[in-house]
Amino acid sequence: MRQPALTATAAFQALETHAIDAEDWQMRGLFGADPQRFSTMSLEAAGLFLDYSKNRLDARTLELLADLARERGVEAQREAMFAGDKINLTEGRAVLHTALRAPRECALEVDGQDVAADVHAVLERVRAFSDAVRSGAWLGHSGKPITDIVNIGIGGSDLGPKMVCLALRQYSHPRIAMHFVSNVDGHDMDAALSVVNPETTLFIIASKTFTTGETMLNAATARAWFLAHVPPAHLARHFVAVSTNVDAITQFGIDPANMFPFWDWVGGRYSVWSAIGLPIALCVGYAHFADFLAGAHAMDLHFKEAPLEANMPVLLALVGFWNRQFLGCASLSIAPYHQDLNRFPAYLQQLDMESNGKRVTKGGLPVDGPTCPVVWGDCGTNGQHAYFQLLHQGTDLTPIDFIASLRPAHELAKHHAALLANCFAQSEAFMRGKTTDEVRADLQAQGLSLAEVERLAPHKTFPGNRPSNTILMEYLTPSTLGALIALYEHKTFVQGVIWDVNSFDQWGVELGKVLAKKIEAELTGAATPEQHDSSTNGLIAMAKAAV
Ligand code: F6P
Repeated sequence: MRQPALTATAAFQALETHAIDAEDWQMRGLFGADPQRFSTMSLEAAGLFLDYSKNRLDARTLELLADLARERGVEAQREAMFAGDKINLTEGRAVLHTALRAPRECALEVDGQDVAADVHAVLERVRAFSDAVRSGAWLGHSGKPITDIVNIGIGGSDLGPKMVCLALRQYSHPRIAMHFVSNVDGHDMDAALSVVNPETTLFIIASKTFTTGETMLNAATARAWFLAHVPPAHLARHFVAVSTNVDAITQFGIDPANMFPFWDWVGGRYSVWSAIGLPIALCVGYAHFADFLAGAHAMDLHFKEAPLEANMPVLLALVGFWNRQFLGCASLSIAPYHQDLNRFPAYLQQLDMESNGKRVTKGGLPVDGPTCPVVWGDCGTNGQHAYFQLLHQGTDLTPIDFIASLRPAHELAKHHAALLANCFAQSEAFMRGKTTDEVRADLQAQGLSLAEVERLAPHKTFPGNRPSNTILMEYLTPSTLGALIALYEHKTFVQGVIWDVNSFDQWGVELGKVLAKKIEAELTGAATPEQHDSSTNGLIAMAKAAV
């Protein structure tokens, strides 16, 4: 059924009127007027705590936003996703990453296929293989245990496993070093190959389609490097694949017995829970991988069952929608105050922007408002000394998601107190700011002349009233990490439903791929240069001259 335009809905129009009233709201005042604000605007689910009280909204705003979610059909769409309906309309596919982390007894059939049985059969193979490699039962061709694993993949076949292996490094196997090669830039592959030994290295070629240019070239280079050292008969002990494309894998020379399959109903950016997570099981062990899946499943249950008003992913989505639509926030900064989450912003970039960076609705009409903000960020406290200046005093309003664990995995207690102090101080500073009068009072107390005070005051004033969320967990564990990723997946889904975009296709990456193929042929001399624009012609000529 075609959705009405977002701006034509009754709930949106009510929000629009409300937003005019809210224009002058100051969060300082909202906190002052309601001592319960923190407890009413926070909630716990699946081992995570979300504080969304430091946003420019009140209880009425949240009511109206929940009305909007209802009017846009979030509940029905959520049901359709979990049930395996083909909600990815442009590709005619179901969207079932939630089935990848559901226990075996959660039966589900899609097109007559027992999805739960398929998922658990592959998980069993992931368990057996990761146990064998970790225990040393799986040996390299010369009888030595595996010491290095090189995952070759890009986008969803790289970002998830890489981010999770880093985040869970406390649990990693002491003998096994993980390497991730994604870029077609030969420097990436060169760096990995220069530190590994063909006798003790396992390559995982991870590609849903097994056609992605970068991964195919990197895989061919890795195979050629291996075969330069080792006879071809040993390839099977050192190369495995994760894919949906068994023919292409066989053609590449990988034994189908060493292929870990997944299915077209798993989107690349939602695939970390599938066999694409094999590097995670190899790195931290299958039991921890299972905890990671269980954490995500706990968030799935919460998302599925909690009313919209008390539903963590829905609230995160609605607050983000409010900031994007009515406060004009064109970007969202992710600030993990946990060094091990330093790849989390990059992971979220693909999840959110490849999903909701869309400009037409599911029905093919232009959307009638802004969609996904630019997602970016880095770890605190590093970001504070780089770009937080702009966040505090720049001309744009940029909401921030702070993410921290209450307890560290180390025993450097002073460090953790300093880290959390910075995290909480930043969200307070963004909310409160510092008025010109407060600045004046400070400067006068320091004994500055009146003229000096007036000269400096504008520079030292912080407008404040800048929105943020804080997400806390007790420890960063496989389970809380699983829940955290699932939280953002469902947030992305809810926003996609509100905007009425298909969050599960990614046609926007195709054009560049096609043009790159043409230009590559021109650069290597296999095709006569085409007439491009003068800039592209000029750049191609420079590259050809440099060969
Ligand atoms: O960038 C487009 C994309 O299709 C992503 O969605 C995907 O995660 C990535 O390329 C890699 O695709 P594959 O796993 O098929 O190699």
